Amino acid sequence: MTAAQFAVFGHPISHSLSPRIHHAFAQQFGIELEYRTIDAAPAQFDAAVRRFFDAGGVGANVTLPHKAAAFALAGERSITARRAGTANVLTRLADDRLAAHNTDGDGMLRDLTERHGVDLRGRHALLLGAGGAARGVAWHLLDAGVQTLTIVNRSPEAAATLAAAIGEPARAPARGWDELDTIDSPDLIVNATSAGVLGVALQLPLTLLRSRAVCYDLSYGKAATGFLSWASAAGARGAFDGLGMLVETAADAFALWHGRRPDTAPVYQSLRRPAA
Ligand code: ATR
Repeated sequence: MTAAQFAVFGHPISHSLSPRIHHAFAQQFGIELEYRTIDAAPAQFDAAVRRFFDAGGVGANVTLPHKAAAFALAGERSITARRAGTANVLTRLADDRLAAHNTDGDGMLRDLTERHGVDLRGRHALLLGAGGAARGVAWHLLDAGVQTLTIVNRSPEAAATLAAAIGEPARAPARGWDELDTIDSPDLIVNATSAGVLGVALQLPLTLLRSRAVCYDLSYGKAATGFLSWASAAGARGAFDGLGMLVETAADAFALWHGRRPDTAPVYQSLRRPAA
């Protein structure tokens, strides 16, 4: 019997850490599985997903730029996926339809609170960005008890749309990028823009960090260095990238598929260690 088939879809995807993470999780339980990367250009995404699941695929992770398309093609959608309008997990159901789920928000919370020890209750948070990534974490930050979540986006319309979807204007207001230096000192700044992935530097005023906020970037590696270097130089209390979030979101997907949640600490540590 061949091992159960899993994959991550993206474009590009060859440097994805997901196969390594899922194989390491599987080893913890002695589970046999195959987990590979599938590179699909946007126009080929739906067909590539169909091929994978028609050939017996059990579950797939989905990353940039396909998270909205993954949500759109699914036959069933979890509440977190519906709020975000995106999915990072697809699972084949017994009737062969696909279920879409989004584990990004839970993964970020677990990384931020459990790994990095950040207490979000009563805090003032600033969310940079209002695209798919921002929508994937906004409700989770509110559910975790932040007192306010100010949403700031380059194009103010998208920030207003997200704030309207949340529907708590006093607690989660929208602001324009040009208002950044008028915002009261936040305790936490979450970078959910795609600027780093696109290789562009964010234009942020140093005054934002007068209260030494904790800074968190949803991306990791090179994509996170611009924002985190700015944060460290400007005196942030902590500056964290999203590598831990990646491992936690993978663990949630693994738990969905295999019914057991792996120990993420050793896997995170092995990824964090520089290659010998
Ligand atoms: P993702 O799925 O990564 O969130 P997305 O839905 O395309 O991708 O959203 C990208 C987000 O990054 C948007 O909030 C975008 O701002 P706009 O709505 O104004 O486009 C933001 N973004 C991208 N490049 C940026 C930059 N150079 N400065 C500020 N925000 C940027």
